[in-house]
Amino acid sequence: MAKVLVAFSTRTGETKKIAELIAEGIRFGGNDANVVNITSIKTEKDLQGYDGYAFGSATYHGEMMQGMKTLLFLAEKADLEGKIGGSFGAFGWSGEAPGRIFDTMKNIFKMKMVSGPLRLKSSSLGGGITMAQDYGKEISRKLSQ
Ligand SMILES: Cc1cc2nc3c(=O)[nH]c(=O)nc-3n(C[C@H](O)[C@H](O)[C@H](O)COP(=O)(O)O)c2cc1C
Repeated sequence: MAKVLVAFSTRTGETKKIAELIAEGIRFGGNDANVVNITSIKTEKDLQGYDGYAFGSATYHGEMMQGMKTLLFLAEKADLEGKIGGSFGAFGWSGEAPGRIFDTMKNIFKMKMVSGPLRLKSSSLGGGITMAQDYGKEISRKLSQ
C-alpha cells in the first residue's frame, strides 16, 4: 500500500475540509493518506517516507498562504523527483494558489503530477465533495501506474 502526505494551509478551514475529502478518495483507491496542517511540518524529514504528495493552500490577495511558500522551499530540499503529486485549495474568485503550487511541484521538483490542480469555492457546494474525493482517487490510480 502506497502512502500519500496531504498537507494543507488554511485560514478559515475550507482547505482543510478539501484535504480530508482528498484523503478519503485516496483511501477509497486502496492507499493510505496522512492529512496534516503544514504548521506541523518543521523539517524536510517530516516530508520523507511518502510515495505521493498533495499540497493545498487557500488563495489570499492573489497568492498562496505564506506557510505554503515556506513549505515549498523546504520541499525543494526533500528530493521529491518522480513522486506522484497534486495540489488543491479553496478560493473566492481568482484562486491562484493551487495552480502556482502545481507548477512548482511539476517544474522545480520534477514530480509526476495528476491532470491538474483542484480548485473549489467550497467543498460543500456544486458537487465539491465528489470532486475532492475523485481527485484523491486520481492520485491513487496514478500511484499504481
Ligand atoms: C482578505 C481576503 C482576501 C482574499 N483574497 C482572495 C483572492 O485574491 N482570490 C480568491 O480567489 N479568493 C480570495 N479570498 C477568498 C478565500 O480564498 C476563500 O474565502 C477561501 O474559501 C478561504 O479558504 P480557507 O478557509 O482554507 O482559508 C480572500 C478572502 C479574504 C478574507
